[in-house]
Amino acid sequence: MKQKFNYYMPTRICFENGITKQMNDYIKGERVLIISDPFLFDNGTATRIGEGLVGKKVCYFSKIEPNPSCESVDMAAEVAREQKADCVIGLGGGSSLDVAKIVSCLVSNEGSIYDYYSGGNRTLGNRTAELICIPTTAGTGSEVTNVGVFTNKKAGIKMPMVNDEFWPDYAIIDGELTFTLPSKVTASTGMDAFCHAIEAYWNKGSIPICDMNAMGAMKLILENIKTAYDEPSNPTARGNMIVASLIAGIAFSQTRTTGIHALSFPLTTEFGASHGTACSITLPAFIRISKEEAWDKMKTLSNYLGFESIDSFADAIENLMISMEMPVRLHEIGVKEEDLSHITKVGLNAAIIQLTPAVMNEETVYALLKSIL
Ligand SMILES: [Fe+2]
Repeated sequence: MKQKFNYYMPTRICFENGITKQMNDYIKGERVLIISDPFLFDNGTATRIGEGLVGKKVCYFSKIEPNPSCESVDMAAEVAREQKADCVIGLGGGSSLDVAKIVSCLVSNEGSIYDYYSGGNRTLGNRTAELICIPTTAGTGSEVTNVGVFTNKKAGIKMPMVNDEFWPDYAIIDGELTFTLPSKVTASTGMDAFCHAIEAYWNKGSIPICDMNAMGAMKLILENIKTAYDEPSNPTARGNMIVASLIAGIAFSQTRTTGIHALSFPLTTEFGASHGTACSITLPAFIRISKEEAWDKMKTLSNYLGFESIDSFADAIENLMISMEMPVRLHEIGVKEEDLSHITKVGLNAAIIQLTPAVMNEETVYALLKSIL
């Protein structure tokens, strides 16, 4: 066990199915901005939560797209400044939550996101607006991390931004918000959460607190994801999945992720795969190579999850994905053999890839991708 580590997670967590019907207790501010995506406005979720904020002045920003761009962030920040928002709520998947994190900072920090991110030389600080994150998928974990991922369209890159001002004041967890998730999204976001947990666990920077969280999260996901996929309104499965995603988020908030997420960036931006699909498509292959440098830990994990060997664990994950109609080969999302060198290069540019418990270089990453083409 590591003889030295740091652990910091300052977000207050409140979980109860149905909790978002009455949110006033959690909001100190008077002028609230709810940031979400068009789907959650069209189905009434965002406005229902806004209408439940009795006595508050509520305004909305509804234009969050998948892989949010810096331009969307700046538009949302303009609304927040105009409204003098003293509370910013992120409602949705990772995109809405990530935008809420930086917008809550930009209320009290001048300028554009480009001043602070992707080459910008200013530092975000002194967030004065309250920040509340409400996930509506069981996958992102963003509600308990200090990371936001944004896309710089001008440069054509998607990059994480890490800042301690991004820790939400509250993570409000309501399993009922996931009842209406399409089954495809249940599968991909659930497997994304599984990737967060396993990448925290096998991470070269892993710490014991996160190992325990990660193991618990993986078990909960394996026990509940198929039921949530088959029975969307099953309150137990949905509650367990959103809590598992939260626990996985706590784990990787400390360790960061590894090769799975590093390779997901080009698969998302250049091949249009959803984040969860782009991550989980390489998961079985990464499990197989993890034994290179993490044999003992991976054997312990495989046994804990009920598998005889690391390879049978990898096979079971692949079969689970197939049972949820997820792609398990790169050609299924449009990748061709001639794309592999480029994906390898982009993946190796992400520093997190070196936290993988196996040698990661042009040769090994190319071979891994080729094995699942
Ligand atoms: Fe992820």
